[in-house]
Amino acid sequence: MKTAKISTGELAYIDRGAGQPILLVHGFPLDYTMWDSQIESLSKHSRVIAPDLRGFGQSPLGPVDPTHGITMERYADDLAEFLDELNLGVDQPIVFVGLSMGGYIAWQFVRKYASRLRALVLLDTRSLADTDEARAGRLKMAENVAEWGSGRVAEMMGPKLVAPSAFEKKPAVVTALRRVVESTSPAAIAAAQRGLAARPDMTSFLPQIRVPTLVIVGEEDAISPPAEMQAIAAAIPNSEFVVIPNSGHMTTMEDPESVNLALTEFLSALK
Ligand code: MLT
Repeated sequence: MKTAKISTGELAYIDRGAGQPILLVHGFPLDYTMWDSQIESLSKHSRVIAPDLRGFGQSPLGPVDPTHGITMERYADDLAEFLDELNLGVDQPIVFVGLSMGGYIAWQFVRKYASRLRALVLLDTRSLADTDEARAGRLKMAENVAEWGSGRVAEMMGPKLVAPSAFEKKPAVVTALRRVVESTSPAAIAAAQRGLAARPDMTSFLPQIRVPTLVIVGEEDAISPPAEMQAIAAAIPNSEFVVIPNSGHMTTMEDPESVNLALTEFLSALK
């Protein structure tokens, strides 16, 4: 992987292919490898850039606010600085592709850096803030993860990440996800959970999104339910909505072929 310096440290990243720059932003508590299949497919026609967010994969954690951890806005600011380092300014607008936490970060990126965007792809994400109960669960994990270890987080999150049938039909995906979560540092998990708990409700912002947008959801997504994502697509003026059958939250890994097809069709229509 390459590394790029930013004011909060550095980001490790993959940069492959040439043409329209596409930024792939991973979910929590994962890393860029959740995009392996998309990197392979999209880099045939585009420049694909897939960073590890701070604390995840190969990127160091850097400074963390003790109360709010790393907020979605801060991750978005990191990405804007990262794109500056790669000389991708407003003259070379990117397609921002975010899954789940990557989507929460996307809302902040669009809000602050709209002129840097060519288009937007939101997979398996939400615009709502957490309920009080969900927020309390995140803060409990943030408090305790150092003692629990990341293995317990993998056990807690594993069943929610994929469709129930994946445990039998796609064991390699389940194993890959568990390995990534287990190898994520408790400090990174705590920082992100505090940031996730603090994230604002972005639903009223959706009608302001002006770029072409693709919304993708797994039919069996238990974290960002299809009905909620359909409402997101309905609220964004220039958007398309695609449901991936028999897939849970991790559509990019559970059904890469269908996701890659939807992405390729959307990207070719931009030209
Ligand atoms: C993710 O996949 O990024 C997380 O499941 C998001 C969340 O915890 O809300």
